[in-house]
Amino acid sequence: TTPLIVDVDTGIDDSLALLYLLASPEAELVGITCTAGNVNARQVAINNLAWLELCNGPDVEVALGAEVPIIAPLMTTEETHGPQGIGYAELPAPTRTLSTRHATQVWIDNARKRPGEITGLITGPLTNLALAVKLEPELPLLLKRIVVMGGAFNHPGNTTPTTEWNVAVDPDAAKIVFDAFSVVPDDRRPVICALDVTERIEMHPHHIAELARAAGSTPDEIISPDDEPGRRSQASNKVIRHLSDAVRFYMEFHRLYEQGFLAHMHDPFAAAVALDPSLATVREATVDVELAGTLTRGQTVADWRGMWGQRPNAAIVVDTDPAEFFRRTIDRVGALARA
Ligand code: BDR
Ligand code: CA
Repeated sequence: TTPLIVDVDTGIDDSLALLYLLASPEAELVGITCTAGNVNARQVAINNLAWLELCNGPDVEVALGAEVPIIAPLMTTEETHGPQGIGYAELPAPTRTLSTRHATQVWIDNARKRPGEITGLITGPLTNLALAVKLEPELPLLLKRIVVMGGAFNHPGNTTPTTEWNVAVDPDAAKIVFDAFSVVPDDRRPVICALDVTERIEMHPHHIAELARAAGSTPDEIISPDDEPGRRSQASNKVIRHLSDAVRFYMEFHRLYEQGFLAHMHDPFAAAVALDPSLATVREATVDVELAGTLTRGQTVADWRGMWGQRPNAAIVVDTDPAEFFRRTIDRVGALARA
């Protein structure tokens, strides 16, 4: 099994990443930590608890973390993820409650307790992890590995022309993390899933239909680009219904930004890679974050050729088979929803 701490800013695709992990027998969820990003951190926490409850997930610790970035003012993006961060989905209010510990404590205590065992998955701004390494500088060596959804290298940004959302929200945190993890052994380098690869993980309406079928939901779950925006799912299966309502919003958003009626599965892809690194082809590079640029603050820069004369500090995902990712998602999340 893979023991995991997951840091999220849930988020439509974060939601699917959570479901993917809940659906994966080899994942042992040790903790879920919440950061501000797509929506504020308290809403993120509610969303995580609500998905856990909806799916009868394990009684995993969910902890609140940073409510604002380290230096930058907080930005959130309701237009991308909906007013609550889960698109059109209206999840029942959770009865589960938040941990009394801070997110950083969850990272540090668990990593100390199980040195070298825990994989960290970060699908939001890197604020919590940056704060945690400031409190426990050994953290990079105590974790098995981290997998980060973030950055854009040889690819345009999705927040400014050169920046990806998770890094753009808290560039200072991202730099702290990349610097801090440069001490880890070569085979434990942070795995970075940047837009270069995650924008190739396109979820189309037919994937939702297949997921619904795998869950035994009726009637056929059809999301059509011709539907009036905001049309709600009629699926008999409650997980499929909420998921479909969430993803529809994300597809409408992508269409608005001229990317087609589809949704990029950034975070679920990173979750799948965290459980099975063999899904991803990686290339080593030295990664840094622009903090001073007047046009480019938050841009991730990769030195592929050793021009800076520094050891590589990251394994950047350069290739994958999106079809294999969707096969796994449909099998696993379908079975989770059916249960
Ligand atoms: C990232 O930004 C967020 O909006 C998504 O959840 C994902 O983590 C993609 O840039
Ligand atoms: Ca996210």
